[in-house]
Amino acid sequence: MKQIAIFASGSGSNFQALVDSVQNGSLQASVKLLVCDQPNAFVMERAKAAGIPIFAFRAKDYKGKEEFEKEIIVELQRREVDFIVLAGYMRLIGPTLLRQFPKRIINIHPSLLPAFPGKDAIGQALEGGVKYTGVTIHFVDEGMDTGPIIEQEVVRISSGETRGSLQDKIQHIEHELYPRTLNHLFLTNGYLMQ
Ligand code: GRF
Repeated sequence: MKQIAIFASGSGSNFQALVDSVQNGSLQASVKLLVCDQPNAFVMERAKAAGIPIFAFRAKDYKGKEEFEKEIIVELQRREVDFIVLAGYMRLIGPTLLRQFPKRIINIHPSLLPAFPGKDAIGQALEGGVKYTGVTIHFVDEGMDTGPIIEQEVVRISSGETRGSLQDKIQHIEHELYPRTLNHLFLTNGYLMQ
């Protein structure tokens, strides 16, 4: 069974979906740690409620990314974590973590990459006037939302779509697609979809 750490910075609805899927057996994995760079984020409450250990930090307390990533690695190794799962972690992963977990860091992004990478992908799609957007799950590399794609799902943008309604549609898909895709990836030992 794969041991995972989830990295998040915000509300953590994807964190919750992953934890719930582990609990109901549809995601065969064990969540060993939440890594959170925003100690006031709601995801912290979710981890406490689920009894999942937390490593919380503030980037400004460190000299740079390398310093806090080294500390994160100590925590991950202590818990024998196999995969890092990003769920709304609002920082670029640096070379220190990438070297330690090659092809073992996965991200979910609310667009059909390579369209609309970076911040506010939902706003970018609405502004771009596209008829379809979606969700992408991909391996993380040194770029911003650029690594090899593992899975995607399309969402249609209806006429009169608002930011709120589109976000709801996308999150609904994310909460189902992320656990299902990770389960498949872990069952194939992380190799099948590379
Ligand atoms: C999700 O839409 C995810 O695609 C993006 O950040 C958002 C996190 O939302 N990377 P939540 O904190 O899981 O609710």
